[in-house]
Amino acid sequence: MTSIFGRAVLGVTGNRVMRRVITGTSAGKAVAHRFVAGDHLDDAVAVSQRLNEAGMSVSMDHLGEHVTSAIEARAATDDYLACLDRIASDGLDANISVKLTQLGMVLDDSLAAEHLDELAARATPAGTTVTVDMEESAHTEMTVALYEKAQSTHGNLGIAIQSYLFRTPGDLERLIPLGGHIRLCKGAYAEDDDVAFQEGRRVDSAFDHLTRTLMAAEGVKPAIASHDEDRLRHAIALGKARKNSWEFQMLHGVRTDLRDELVAAGHEMRVYVPYGVAWYPYLTRRMAERPANLTFFLRALAGK
Ligand code: FDA
Repeated sequence: MTSIFGRAVLGVTGNRVMRRVITGTSAGKAVAHRFVAGDHLDDAVAVSQRLNEAGMSVSMDHLGEHVTSAIEARAATDDYLACLDRIASDGLDANISVKLTQLGMVLDDSLAAEHLDELAARATPAGTTVTVDMEESAHTEMTVALYEKAQSTHGNLGIAIQSYLFRTPGDLERLIPLGGHIRLCKGAYAEDDDVAFQEGRRVDSAFDHLTRTLMAAEGVKPAIASHDEDRLRHAIALGKARKNSWEFQMLHGVRTDLRDELVAAGHEMRVYVPYGVAWYPYLTRRMAERPANLTFFLRALAGK
C-alpha cells in the first residue's frame, strides 16, 4: 500500500543520481542492513539458522529484479539453485521467494518459465517450496499465468497476492484450485487508481476480506504477510475455525517485537530474509512504507 508520502519517496528514489548517492554511502548501506541479512548466501544462512533456532521458518530472497539480459537471468537462477542446495545441505527450515522479472520475464516469458521450472524441480529433492513474489501490476497477469503452469507441473509452489489490486479476488478464484501456499500482502508498489485502491482503509478492508476467503479454503496454506496489528488480530480470529495449518509472514527487521510475541503465543511464523548486493529497490519500498525509515536514513547521512 503506497501512501502519498510513499509515492513521493518512490518518485525521488527512482532517480539515478539519488540511487548513486544512496548505494554509494555508508548511510545507505547502514539502513539497508536493517532489512537485509547481508551481501552473501552465508549471511542469509546464518540469519536463517538463528531464526530456525527461535522457532521460525524462513523464506530466502536473493535480491534482484527487472533483469535486462539473459545472462543476468541465468545468473539469478544459478544463485537460487545454490540457495536451494544450502537449504538441503544445512537442513534449514526455509524455502525461497523469487521475482519472475529476476528470472527474465520482461525479456522473454518462456525463459522465465524455464528458470522457474528448474527451481521448482530442484526444490523437490531439497524438500522445500518456491514462492513467487508479486511485482508491479503490469506483470501480474503473466506472473499468475507462469505460476499456474509451474504449480500444475510441480505442485510445490506458492504465490503472493496483493490486497490493493482490484483484480485480486478474481485471481484467487484461479489460484485456490491449484493448492500450494498463498501469501496475502497489502502490496508495495505505486499503482494507479484504475487498478488499485488508494486509501489505506480500503486496502485494509480488502485484506480482511481476502483473509476470510483464504482461511475458508482448506486446500491451500494461507500465509498472512503483514505487520498491521488489526489485520493480524482479524486473521487470528478467523484462523481458530480453520482445520488445516496457516502461517504468518513478516519481513526481516520489521516489528520483531510483535513477531516474537506471536511465536510465543504458538503461531506459525515465516520470516522473509533478503540477501545480496542488489538491495536498492527493496530498500526504497521499505522507506516508502514508513516515514521513520527515511528519517533514519537522513540522520545516518548527516552522521548523527
Ligand atoms: P502497514 O504498511 O500498514 O504497516 C503496519 C505497521 O507495520 C506499521 O505501522 C509499522 O509499525 C510496521 N511496518 C510496516 N512496514 C514497515 C517498514 N518498512 N519498516 C518499519 N516498520 C514497518 N509486497 C508486494 O507487493 N509483493 C510481495 O511479493 C510482497 N511480499 C511480502 C512478503 C512478506 C513476508 C511481507 C511481510 C510483506 C511483503 N510485501 C510484498 C510487502 C507488503 O505488500 C507491504 O508493503 C508491507 O508488508 C507493509 O504493509 P503492512 O501489511 O505491514 O501494513
